[in-house]
Amino acid sequence: MDIAIVSYSYTGNNDVLAECVARDLSAKHIKITVQKPMTMGTIIVDMVFARTPKVHPDPDSLRQYDLILFCAPVWMGHVASPLRTYFRYLKSNPQSYGFLSISGGADGENPKLYRELLKRTGAKPVIVLDQHIKDLISLNSNPTRKDTSAYKISEMEAKRLSAAAIKEINKLSIHG
Ligand SMILES: Cc1cc2nc3c(=O)[nH]c(=O)nc-3n(C[C@H](O)[C@H](O)[C@H](O)COP(=O)(O)O)c2cc1C
Repeated sequence: MDIAIVSYSYTGNNDVLAECVARDLSAKHIKITVQKPMTMGTIIVDMVFARTPKVHPDPDSLRQYDLILFCAPVWMGHVASPLRTYFRYLKSNPQSYGFLSISGGADGENPKLYRELLKRTGAKPVIVLDQHIKDLISLNSNPTRKDTSAYKISEMEAKRLSAAAIKEINKLSIHG
């Protein structure tokens, strides 16, 4: 089975996880780049006004894969805006896909993720794993947004999360 791990990361965590999953699955890792570098301001404007930033690579370059695993942060309860172009493409060109994320979790669960993925792509994701940093910080039982924002995933933690994701992926019937 030909799998692509397609990641976007603003502060690095999701790229580290994606790199690890790609290595463990011997899959291709494709990093999304945005035409205009994101800032905290553009992130907020994208999320509030439902904007879609221009991204590279072209989604059409993913058509050869049997499964696309997106790996990106959650912003304001939603999947990071740089993934929107790919979701729109999947809506007219259906392919199996999943979503993995290391998100903050300081403000609680991200309950809208699954519905958003369904709405944007028109199809159910085969896997959704949203790992909250809040649950990875053991020193502080009630971490704030400031604590979770400062978190940098370690190679060891990425390996553990990657193993958990791969365990789920291996259960999928599409996995040949
Ligand atoms: C503007 C902004 C909004 C965020 N909103 C959420 C949120 O709604 N839920 C959440 O769990 N984490 C939220 N986070 C935290 C990020 O998901 C978290 O820091 C993530 O690890 C960043 O991933 P990255 O290092 O790959 O960019 C937010 C971060 C930023 C910068």
